Amino acid sequence: MCGIFGCILRKGDAAPIIHSALKRLEYRGYDSVGEATLQQEKLLIKKDEGKIDEVHALHNLDDLPGRIGIGHTRWATHGAPSRVNAHPHTDCTEKIAVVHNGIIENFLQLRRELEELGHLFQSKTDTEVICHLIEEEMSGGKPLAEAVRGAVKRLDGSYAIAVLSTSEPDKIVCVRKESPLALGVAEDAVYCASDIPAFLPLANKSVILQDGELGMLKDEGYELRKIDDWSLVTREPEVIDWTPEMAEKQGYPHFMLKEIHEQPLCLRNTLRLQEQYLELMTTFLDRAGEVFLVACGTSYHACLAASYMFSKLAMLATYPVIASEFVEQHGRAVNIESTILAVSQSGETADTLAAVEWARKRAATILGLTNTIDSTLTRVSRVYICQQSGPEIGVAATKTFTSQLSVLSQLALRLAKKRGKISHEEIEDLEEKLEHIPNIVDTIIESQEEKVKQLAKKYRDKDCFFFLGRGVSSASALEGRLKLLEIAYAPSIAYPAGESKHGPISLVEAGFPVVFLCPRDGTRKTIVGNIMEMKARGASIIAIIQEGDEEIKGLADDYLEIPEGLPEILSPIPYVIPLQLLAYYMAIERDLDPDKPRNLAKSVTVQ
Ligand code: M6R
Repeated sequence: MCGIFGCILRKGDAAPIIHSALKRLEYRGYDSVGEATLQQEKLLIKKDEGKIDEVHALHNLDDLPGRIGIGHTRWATHGAPSRVNAHPHTDCTEKIAVVHNGIIENFLQLRRELEELGHLFQSKTDTEVICHLIEEEMSGGKPLAEAVRGAVKRLDGSYAIAVLSTSEPDKIVCVRKESPLALGVAEDAVYCASDIPAFLPLANKSVILQDGELGMLKDEGYELRKIDDWSLVTREPEVIDWTPEMAEKQGYPHFMLKEIHEQPLCLRNTLRLQEQYLELMTTFLDRAGEVFLVACGTSYHACLAASYMFSKLAMLATYPVIASEFVEQHGRAVNIESTILAVSQSGETADTLAAVEWARKRAATILGLTNTIDSTLTRVSRVYICQQSGPEIGVAATKTFTSQLSVLSQLALRLAKKRGKISHEEIEDLEEKLEHIPNIVDTIIESQEEKVKQLAKKYRDKDCFFFLGRGVSSASALEGRLKLLEIAYAPSIAYPAGESKHGPISLVEAGFPVVFLCPRDGTRKTIVGNIMEMKARGASIIAIIQEGDEEIKGLADDYLEIPEGLPEILSPIPYVIPLQLLAYYMAIERDLDPDKPRNLAKSVTVQ
């Protein structure tokens, strides 16, 4: 996730406006920054690696001349943070500049094709292909907007872009597909940006671009067209009534809720990961003598779920290990044959890095899954995958968890394919279902959020909660418990449901809330037995069920529904959504700030 911005002012310099707008977008990415302005038909660019203040201190982002410009704040996806990979990017002639948020899936193929035509690339980014594609289109005599249209028609993936060209120095062209883009309209200026906060102090009206639309910003205002048939779109600007604080959270009261709602988008991003990284990591996993899945907190729960995926799909036994226990538990056994797949959204968790360091010294192979390019984990990993969830601000991991699960399930599927462990039909079916997960998550949020709010009201004063699931759902149970505990300060206990009668059941008395995860998989029969045991002792049953599961509906005091047709192995992604919402609304009911739970830090950099 990156932030893009563009502005056309009637008078005054664009650079300080771009600089301040990028500051307001910094939460979208902060590993490098850049801006381009147009002055006397010349393109002027400043960019570098680092946070905005650092780059400003070095280069003065305010002194570029010109009243038209674009800017970018980056969250690296393709290519490490560096000056050359920072946006804006340019074409061979340095007459076209582009800023981009999103992922171009087919960039390697396009890059090869453009290089064969003689284009010279400077960066390792996917974005740069867009500049050269526009250059190609313009060399045939097309005006800027049509050239941009021609270029984006070649792109697979997601993008919000803003383009400047010296050949039409009074315009900015922007396009949206699956990445946010809004126009800001003021008396004396027009803006485009990834999010409204970028222009909130400057414009009080906005127009939201829809997927497949192109916006042309000019002195007189803006023009919108559909990329498909080039027809004009008429959309009047709407008055923005957000406070700056609301705007930063895009109208959501908290980052946690915003990030829960972002999950469909993030999951779509994980389905666009570059094949070669997935393939490379799968090859390492395939060759491994033994695989340890090492992580802390929520990332550990993703590892636990992954151990079921690897075993059930690829018949690979893996050991999920809590990072702080790794050295004590397995340290002496680690050797050159061992492979460590370390999972950490921040890539900076001290316990995870300590486990990795130990294993590295014993010549083990280190693989990394993280959300942060250029984090320590990426530097110490032989191969790493960046899950592309964008910055997560809420302390509770939500969107990064489901993205981790999506990447890990893709790895398990690939490994299954490589090892010939399941049939082609089964693999194709699973791949198709994985493609649908973002839509399913969308449906769950839309259909269940209100019900979760009511549940939070009903159970807000309960002292303690149980979370129970079987099989892969025991990982979801642990994650549901961690969310409720850390955000709503509700003491909670989670177990594989079969274990509950070996001790924990002694806590249960009339009205004790027990959350059961009940997907319709091989564990369903036994989970019904566990529900009966709890009911017999007066527990209040809150069941997360598959839509239309009448039997469990009849047993439960309350239930939340997940659309049917999901394979067992993918169920942790949808089934955790109601649990995240439950934690969030319980915190609200208890008058707590879900974004800043006490005693916790987003990244735990001490052991
Ligand atoms: O950055 P990491 O994924 O390594 O972080 C691991 C844990 O600290 C983290 O998941 C923590 O448990 C979260 N607060 C959970 O919501």
